[in-house]
Amino acid sequence: MIKVDISDKGLFNEVYIPYLKNKIRTQIYYGGASAGKSVFISQRCVIDILEGDRNYLVIRNTANTLRTSIYNEIKKVISNYNLEKLFKINKSEMTITCVNGYQILFRGLDDAEKLKSIIPEKGVITDILIEEATETKRDDVKQLYKRLRGKSKVLKRLTLCFNPIFRTHWIYKEYFKNWVEGETEYHDDRLSILKTTYKDNLRFLEQDDIDELENEQDPYYREVYTFGNWGILGDLIFTNWKIEDLSGIKNTFGTYYNGLDFGYSNDPTAAGRQAIKAKKLYILEEMIYELGLTNNLIANKLKPVINKEYIRCDNEPKSIAELRGYGIKALAAKKGPGSVNFGIQYMRQFEIIIDRKCQNAINEIQLYQWKKNKDGIAINEPVDRNNHFMDQIRYALNDRIFEKKEEKPYTAQELGIF
Ligand SMILES: Nc1ncnc2c1ncn2[C@@H]1O[C@H](COP(=O)(O)OP(=O)(O)OP(=O)(O)O)[C@@H](O)[C@H]1O
Ligand SMILES: [Mg+2]
Repeated sequence: MIKVDISDKGLFNEVYIPYLKNKIRTQIYYGGASAGKSVFISQRCVIDILEGDRNYLVIRNTANTLRTSIYNEIKKVISNYNLEKLFKINKSEMTITCVNGYQILFRGLDDAEKLKSIIPEKGVITDILIEEATETKRDDVKQLYKRLRGKSKVLKRLTLCFNPIFRTHWIYKEYFKNWVEGETEYHDDRLSILKTTYKDNLRFLEQDDIDELENEQDPYYREVYTFGNWGILGDLIFTNWKIEDLSGIKNTFGTYYNGLDFGYSNDPTAAGRQAIKAKKLYILEEMIYELGLTNNLIANKLKPVINKEYIRCDNEPKSIAELRGYGIKALAAKKGPGSVNFGIQYMRQFEIIIDRKCQNAINEIQLYQWKKNKDGIAINEPVDRNNHFMDQIRYALNDRIFEKKEEKPYTAQELGIF
C-alpha cells in the first residue's frame, strides 16, 4: 500500500475535499461547466488506486469519447503529480496499472466484447465511474452494476458525473426524488449528491472562462452550464431522429456525403460521413470531433475513411487549400444569408438515423435549439451552441440543399417553429 499525503489542500478545490473519502454506494457529482468535477473525480481515482484495495472501471457511453476526455484527465493527474514511475499506461488496451497491482480500466458501453472482459489483475472492480453520465441509458448502467460481483475489502461504489442537461432524464427521476432545489448537497445511507458550479473552481479558472459563463445570454445554457440547474429544453430544431446500430449497413450506400466544420481552440473540428436513402438521413460516422487539430492532423484522420471522395467544408479558403495540399479533395460549402435555415429546413424533411457510436452527434442534436427573443418566443435562428457536427451535416449536403435553393430565406412559420 502506498500512503498518499493529501494534506496539500492547494491541489484540490475546497468543496470536493470532504468527498475524497466518501464511501457511499451511489455518488453524484453534477452541476455547471468548469466546476472542477472531472478533475476531482480523476484526482480521487488516482489516489484511491495508489492506496490500494480498489480497481476502477471508468465508463462513457462510447469508447471513442473516453480517449479524449476522462482518460486524458486521469493521465494528466498522474503526470502533474509526477507519479509516472508508479503507473504503467497501456494506450491500446486503455488500462492504467499501478505498481501495487491495482488498475483503472476504461470501457465504452458500446463495446460489448470488451465489456465482457472487465476483470482486473488483482481483486475485483470496486468502483464504476461514469463520466458524462447523461449520455447513458438506465438499463446499461443497471446491467453493468449487477455484473460486478465478487468479494472486496472495501465498499463498492458507483459514481456519476454530468451536466444536468434536461429534467426529464432518467437520472433525475431515479436519484433526485429527495433533492431540495437551492441546496448544493444531499446525503442518505446509499446516495450522496454534490452540486457545483464554476464558482467552486474560481482559483483554477482563467478570467476568460469565467466571463464566458457569466455573459451567457441564452436562458437554457445559462441555467445548465452557468448555474448548474436541471435544464428545461426550448424549441428543439430536430425532433425526428433516433439512434441505431448502423455498423451492419455502413458500407452499403452508393453515395456518401462528407462534411467538415473547422474549429481549433474553443470549438472542436467536426467531420462526419452521411448517406441518404428512402427519406432517411443516416449519420454513419464521426470522423473527427476534437479540439486543437491542425490541418495536417485533420487530413490524416480523414484520409483512411474518405480516400478519394469529396468533402464539403466550412468556407475557409486557406484551410481548404492546405487540406488539398495534403491530398484531401476538399471543397467549400456555399454560405450566405439564410443558408443555415435552408440547410436545416432541408434536413428536416428526413428521418435522421444516427449510429450509436456517434456520441457527439447525439449530444448536439438533442440540445440544438432555436434562439428565443426577450419575451421567450422562439425565433428562426439557432442558438450558436452544439452546432459543430450539425453544421458539417449541412456542408456535406450542400449540393442537394442548393439544388433546391429559393430566392428568399425561410420565415419562422415555414420553419414550423411557432
Ligand atoms: N484541482 C485542480 N487543479 C488544477 N486545475 C483544476 C483543478 N480543478 C479544476 N481545474 C481546472 O479547471 C478546469 C475545469 O475543470 P473540469 O474540467 O474538472 O470541470 P467540469 O466540472 O468537469 O466541467 P464540465 O461540466 O464542463 O465538464 C480544468 O480544465 C482545469 O484546468
Ligand atoms: Mg467535466
